[in-house]
This record gives sequence, structure tokens and C-alpha cells, in this order.
Amino acid sequence: MKIMVEASQKGGGGKTTVTCQLAYYMPELAAPTLLLDLDPQMNATRCMLRGGVAAVAAFSTTQVFEGRWSALPPGDLVLVPADQGLGGLERQPQRHNDFVNALQAFLREAAPRFRVCLIDTHPCPDVRYVAALATADLVLSPIVLTQEALEGVGMFLHHPRHGYLRIRQRLNPRLELLGLLPNLVEATPFQRANLRQLVEQHPGLLIPVRRGELDGYALIPTRTAIAEAQAAGVPLWKLRQAAPAGSPDLGARPLRSAARDAWRELRPSFEAIARRLGVGA
Ligand SMILES: Nc1ncnc2c1ncn2[C@@H]1O[C@H](COP(=O)(O)OP(=O)(O)O)[C@@H](O)[C@H]1O
Ligand SMILES: [Mg+2]
Repeated sequence: MKIMVEASQKGGGGKTTVTCQLAYYMPELAAPTLLLDLDPQMNATRCMLRGGVAAVAAFSTTQVFEGRWSALPPGDLVLVPADQGLGGLERQPQRHNDFVNALQAFLREAAPRFRVCLIDTHPCPDVRYVAALATADLVLSPIVLTQEALEGVGMFLHHPRHGYLRIRQRLNPRLELLGLLPNLVEATPFQRANLRQLVEQHPGLLIPVRRGELDGYALIPTRTAIAEAQAAGVPLWKLRQAAPAGSPDLGARPLRSAARDAWRELRPSFEAIARRLGVGA
């Protein structure tokens, strides 16, 4: 089982969106997937509950950290939901080592059943974030192409306590940066210039794609259909047209063409990420 954490210094960059859509995609590539929500805002949990696609564990990730998990439900996509208790873990420093050990023990137990484990975090580098990075094989970092976010990449890599390189050196030498994933990309000259700057300043940190559109790197354009798929809790490629107001919802409405187009743009990036997870062609 490959464990991948979504991490970045800023909220709103698409961690949850990418995590949920990847979680939907992996089982389509015959990779049973475990999804852990470590964010007390519970955005990934809510998305999964709305869509009803994932099987949901009877315990939360707080209970995982406390060593109180039970059997996982059957299914190719299984969510361990977040709850409000996650916010309290940071205030128990004497237990932090136990929390990390419990997460690692839980994932060792789950490993034989799943090919992939995806972990959604929130931007605060607290014990949950550090525990996730101390346990993972790979980090994926969605990034918006603003000047502030580009300046934040240095911190994400080099911060003396919770930077990626520091965690790798101190806690988890196995950890690899899968890459930075530009998200909410607009075809403006400003964003293109920022993308070029990212490529120049951090060579090798973007994710090459085989059938790339823009410049041969994985990236996700801003598309309303992506936000709508998240709001509905469904895979982008299965987003259907809304039922006309007042008419009964009969289920089999046509797929949204805007969603199909967005998926065509997104798919090469997801395939590249899947390959790094050892999944797909
Ligand atoms: N490529 C995209 N196109 C359109 N909306 C997006 C895209 N990526 C994310 N969003 C929307 O932006 C908001 C923030 O994304 P989210 O995944 O919650 O970020 P994070 O988890 O990093 O805080 C959400 O409402 C989401 O639906
Ligand atoms: Mg989030």
C-alpha cells in the first residue's frame, strides 16, 4: 500500500478536491483505496458522505490516533472520517508520540487490503500533519499560481521544524515529494509567468505528464464542473445534469458536457499521479 499525503502551507489550494477526486479515480484503476480525513473542518468527509460512494468506517481518525479503531467495512473505497476531536490532539503533547505510533500501526494493519491510502490534511503543521508525513511514502502539494504561494514553496520545503526536507531527514527518510500540482490554473499571462517561474526556481518539482497540455506538467485548470462535482460528492467524470426544477429526480440524467471536458483536461495529470503510486498503465 502506497501512502500519499496532500499537504501545503495554504488552505483553498485544492487539497481536499484533489484527494477526493483521486480517491474516486483509484478504484477505477483496480486499486482499492483507503481515505483518511485528518482535517477537523471535515470537507473530505462531507464530500464523501454526500456522494455515498465510499464505505464509511464506524470510527473517526481521532480514534485512530487514540488507538481505538475497529474493523474497516468492505469496499474498494473506504473513508475513515474526521471529527471535531482532531482539534484536541495538539493540546496533549505528552501523547504525541503515541498518536504517531497508533497511526502507523493502523496503516500497517490496513496495508494488505488496499493498494493506496490517501490522507487529506489541513494547512496547520501540527501533530496530525507531522504524523501523516512521518508515515507517508509520498507527498502531493497542490499550489495556486500566486506570488505568495510561490514564495511559500521555500517554506514548505525548508522550514526548520515541519518542512518536507526536515521531516524526511528527522522522521521519515522514505518520504518522497511526488510533486507540486498547480491548481485553479487560469490561462492568463500572469499565471503563465508564475508557472514558468516555478519551473525555473524549483526544477524537478512539477510532475511531468505524458500527454500534457500546458508545458508537459500536471496541472488543473479552474473549472466550475470540478467545484460542482465536489459539492455533489461525485467523481467529476460522473457529474450529471441537474434535474429541471420541480421535476422528479429519476437518476439517469445525461452526463454534463462541461464535466466531461474538464475531466479530459484533468485526466493526464491524474494518470501521472497514479503511475507514481504504482497504479495504472
Ligand atoms: N480546479 C478547480 N476548479 C474550480 N474549483 C476548484 C478547483 N479546485 C478546487 N476548487 C474549489 O475551491 C475550493 C477550495 O478547494 P479545497 O479542495 O477545499 O482546498 P483545500 O482543501 O486546499 O483547502 C472548493 O470550493 C473547491 O470546490
Ligand atoms: Mg481541505
